[in-house]
Amino acid sequence: MKILAIETSCDDTAIALVETENNNFHVLFNMVLSQTEIHHKWGGIHPSLARREHQKKLPFLLEKILIKKENNKVKDEIKEILKREEIMLPTVISLLEKYKKPDIDLIALTVGPGLDPSLWTGVNFAKALSCQWKIPIVPVNHIEAHLLISLFSFKDGLLRLKSKESDFPAMGLVVSGGHTQLILMKDIGSYEIVGETRDDAAGECFDKAARILGLGYPGGPAISAKAEKATRSVEPLPRPMLNQKNHNFSFSGLKTAILYRHKKNPERIKDDEHIQAESKEIQQAIIDVLISKTLSAAKEYKVKSIITGGGVISNKELRRQLVEKAEMKVFFPVKEGRTDNALMISVAGYYNRKKAVKYDMIEASPNLRV
Ligand code: KG4
Ligand code: ZN
Repeated sequence: MKILAIETSCDDTAIALVETENNNFHVLFNMVLSQTEIHHKWGGIHPSLARREHQKKLPFLLEKILIKKENNKVKDEIKEILKREEIMLPTVISLLEKYKKPDIDLIALTVGPGLDPSLWTGVNFAKALSCQWKIPIVPVNHIEAHLLISLFSFKDGLLRLKSKESDFPAMGLVVSGGHTQLILMKDIGSYEIVGETRDDAAGECFDKAARILGLGYPGGPAISAKAEKATRSVEPLPRPMLNQKNHNFSFSGLKTAILYRHKKNPERIKDDEHIQAESKEIQQAIIDVLISKTLSAAKEYKVKSIITGGGVISNKELRRQLVEKAEMKVFFPVKEGRTDNALMISVAGYYNRKKAVKYDMIEASPNLRV
C-alpha cells in the first residue's frame, strides 16, 4: 500500500510518501520545510504567516513526487474546495492539470490538534488531491502520530517496527510546543489521557523562557545549547506540581518565576555565563517535573514501557535522565521523527487505515483528543 502523508498542524510543512510491507515502511520521499526563520522575530508562531507559508510550500513539495505528465481536466469542485486558499489555488490547479495521478492508495492527513489556520490549509490541499484523484483520506491525530513513530527504527530508507506486544500497556509522554500529555496506551489504538498541562506546554515554556533571555525561537534548542556550556549555578527555580498526587502539569508559574527574577536583575542578560547557568536551571526544572510525573504515572498504571514523542524529546538531557531513572524500556523517536514531520503521519495513517473516508467527510479539528 502506498500512502501520501501531509502534515501542517503548526509551523512545519511536511510531506512523505511511503510504501508499506507488513508492519514496515519503505520511505520513498520525506521532506519537512521549516518556517523557523519567518517566526523567529515574533518569538513564537504567527498563525496567518504560517498559513501563507503552508500554501506556498505544499504544492512545491508535492511537485517533487509527481512524475508523469498528462493533460488533465481539473474538476470544478477543486476551485470550491480551495476557495479560501487563494495563494495555493492556481499552483495546485496547474499541477493537477500537468501531472498524472501518482500511484497512491491512501492520503494520511493531520486533522488535529493544532493551529486552526495551519490545519485548514493542509485539509483543503488534501481534499483537492483526494477529489481529483479519487483517493480516500484517513484523518490522523497528530499526538497519536508523535507516539507511534517512536516504535520504529529508521535505517537505509526503511522504518522498521521495533516494539512487541509485550511492551504494552505503555505510558505515553507527549511533549511538544503545543502539548504536554501523559497517555495510557493499553495497545496501539486504545488510549486514555491520564495527565496533561493545565496551562502552558513544556515546549512553550522553553520557548517563552528563551524569549525572556533574548535567545529567540524555537527556545528548546537555544536553551539546551546554552545549558551545555554552564559552569556556574543559579538559585533554584520552582518545580510546579511536583508533589501533587495527580498526573497533571503546570508550566506557567515557572515562566513567571523566570520573568520575575529577570526583571529584578535585567542587566544580567548581558552576562553569557549567567545565561548559561540560568538555561541549565530552566532545563532541569522542566526535566525534573516531566520525569517525576511520567514515572509516577507509569508506576500507578503498572505499564511495561514508556513511549515518548514530540519536539521536546530532542532534548538530550531529558532523554539521558529518563533512561537513567526509568527502570523499564523507553522508546524514543528517531531524529527525523522528533519535531513535526510527515513520516509519523504516514505511520499513524496506516494503523488507522480502516477509518479512511471520502474527501467531503474531512475537516480540521484544532482541539482533537486521542
Ligand atoms: O513537536 P514539535 O515540533 O511541534 C509541536 O507540535 O508543537 O515541537 C516543537 C517544540 C518547540 O517548543 C521547541 O522549543 C521544542 O519542541 N524543542 C526542544 C528542543 N528541540 C525542540 N525543547 C527542548 N530541547 C530541545 N532540544
Ligand atoms: Zn508536534
